[in-house]
Amino acid sequence: MASASFDFAPLLAPSLPAPAAKWAGFPKYNFIGGNNDADQVPVDGLIAAATAVLKREGATLASYGLDSGPLGYRPLREFLADKLKRAAGITCTPDEILITSGSLQGLDLVNRLLLAPGDTVLIEQESYQGSLTRLDRLRVNAVGIPLDKEGIRVDALAAALDDLKRRGIRAKYIYTIPTVQNPTGTILSEARRRELLRLSEEHQVPIFEDDCYADLIWDGRRPHSLYAMSERGGVIHIGSFSKSIAPALRVGYIVATWDVLSRILALKTDAGSGALEQMVLAEFCARHFTEHVPKLTHALRTKLDALMDALDEHFGTAAEFDEPRGGIFLWVKLPDAVDTPKLAQAALAAGVAINPGPEWSTHKAHGKSRLRLCFASPSTQAIREGIAVLAEVCRREFGVPERIANVERRARA
Ligand SMILES: Cc1ncc(COP(=O)(O)O)c(C=O)c1O
Repeated sequence: MASASFDFAPLLAPSLPAPAAKWAGFPKYNFIGGNNDADQVPVDGLIAAATAVLKREGATLASYGLDSGPLGYRPLREFLADKLKRAAGITCTPDEILITSGSLQGLDLVNRLLLAPGDTVLIEQESYQGSLTRLDRLRVNAVGIPLDKEGIRVDALAAALDDLKRRGIRAKYIYTIPTVQNPTGTILSEARRRELLRLSEEHQVPIFEDDCYADLIWDGRRPHSLYAMSERGGVIHIGSFSKSIAPALRVGYIVATWDVLSRILALKTDAGSGALEQMVLAEFCARHFTEHVPKLTHALRTKLDALMDALDEHFGTAAEFDEPRGGIFLWVKLPDAVDTPKLAQAALAAGVAINPGPEWSTHKAHGKSRLRLCFASPSTQAIREGIAVLAEVCRREFGVPERIANVERRARA
């Protein structure tokens, strides 16, 4: 088509989001998004799995939902039921798992199930941007609860729930990323998990547990999930293969009791998520998931070390951070003078993409001098070079760090 002359503007539905920007390719030093380590995608294993499963069951692609029905490819749900039992203590049947198009679709479906404009939810003060923007778009009031090194502060949560109760408001859910929190990398302690569940029960506010990083813990010791620990069933759990295998596959899942899942399934109107990805994952994971994950976490840990070393070298004490216990992100505090949204713009012009803190926080002022760095997708060399460039841009724009290539290294536990 030579040119688009038809004017759609007067026909557009109300309340549409702003138009999407055209993709301009990846920046040279890419520390944004939740992308994974390209070297760790198990390409050969996926090829073998695709060949085997297609030879055996390819003809079932003729039916929507394969031979498995609308919840998703049954062998994948069987793998998940088994893995979630072993790794997270969850007892569920394959029929209490719905396969979704990434856990983002899980977020949308749970939000559709529970939220209306004007509702209130509780959420970790620093949280996943995709969750925050969704709540914003739904015109839902997101009450941020501060975190510390052990995850969400349950004392602050109790106070917020009491405050809402006094005002006659029953929140719709408590959204939490308890196991390798995004962006802070914390893991919620068992004692706090118990207290969180107790508060949820006392206030009759369900928990929405987003556990997509839970496989990526350095020491492999994943705590029991809130879903597993709940005695009354007031938890909806979502997870994903994006972080443990590959995000472009777009395969996630929801775990819920059938009374809840049946309502969610009725909202999933896409006639099933991509079947080929589900088949390949089931075939691959049943044989190789347990050996794949430690290789991946080892590679990620090496990159995290490279990032922390580069920050020490180029920012010195100007960059403060707590070492994450797993995952793909480092949450960094720069001196108060630094405005990370402005830094992000200047850095991008120099080829370095970073996520500015305010986009990952309900408390914009708290996020202002913070930033999130994804260390999974850049190579270790790109990590070193990119942080050197970032430090130079930061010094030019904000006067910090005062000295580049600080020789003093931080002592780490
Ligand atoms: C906390 C959290 N939840 C959900 C998602 C969505 O992941 P996906 O849709 O790829 O499963 C992400 C992606 O980065 C995330 O960080």
